[in-house]
Amino acid sequence: MTDIQACLFDLDGVLVDTAKYHYLAWKRLAEELGFVFTEKDNERLKGVSRTASLQILLEVGGVTVDEEARQQLAERKNTWYVESISGMDHSEILPGALEFLKECRTRGIKTALGSASKNAMLILNNTGLTPCFDAIIDGTKTSSAKPDPEVFLLGASELGISPSACIVFEDAEAGIEAAIRAGMRSVGIGSPDMLGRADIVVPSLAGFSVSRLNRLMDETAAL
Ligand code: BG6
Ligand code: MG
Repeated sequence: MTDIQACLFDLDGVLVDTAKYHYLAWKRLAEELGFVFTEKDNERLKGVSRTASLQILLEVGGVTVDEEARQQLAERKNTWYVESISGMDHSEILPGALEFLKECRTRGIKTALGSASKNAMLILNNTGLTPCFDAIIDGTKTSSAKPDPEVFLLGASELGISPSACIVFEDAEAGIEAAIRAGMRSVGIGSPDMLGRADIVVPSLAGFSVSRLNRLMDETAAL
C-alpha cells in the first residue's frame, strides 16, 4: 500500500485549461514581432516561467532585444493573458479535477498548489478552486522556476509533510523533473511520450480517484 499523505497540483494544464490562453497571447506577440509561433513551439513553454518563455519565443523568432524591451514584451503578453483569464469561471475546471481534490480532502490527504504562475490566485478565485487547498504556492512565492524543486518543497514544508509522502500532478516535463528533484513521486497528466519519467501517466483527471491512484502506484512498485 502506498503511503501518500499529500497531493501537490500544478495549475495550468492539470486543473484548468489555461495553456490555450497562454498560447494565444504568445502567438499574438510573435505576430506583432513578425514571425509565426506554432502550437508545437508552444509545447516548450509548458511549465516554464514567463521570463524563460519569452526567451524561448524570441529564440524561435530569431529576435534580439534589450532588457527594457524584454520586460515590456513580457508585460504586453501578460496583459492579454490576464484579459482572457479574467472571464474564466468554474466551467473551465478540467474534467475530474474538482472531484479528485474534494475526495483527497475527504480522505484526509492534504492538498497544495504548486504553480509557476504569478496569476494563479486570479484563476483560483475565478474558478472557485481556492478553498480546495491547504497550501498555495505560486510564482509570487518562489525565486527558482521548475525544473527547480523549490515550488514543491515549499508546498510540502507548508503542509508539514515529508517530500517522500507527497505526490505531484503535472502536465509538463519540467514539472516532473522538479518533482523528482524534490524527492517526490509524480503523476504525469498527458502523454507518456512527453512525461515518461513520471511514476504513472494518465491522459487526464477524468474519472481519477484515490483508490485508482493507490492501485496504479502499487502496480508500479511491483514492476
Ligand atoms: C505555468 C505555465 O504554469 O506558468 C507557463 O505552464 C507559464 O506556460 C507560467 O509561462 C508562468 O505564468 P504567468 O501566469 O506567471 O505568466
Ligand atoms: Mg502545467
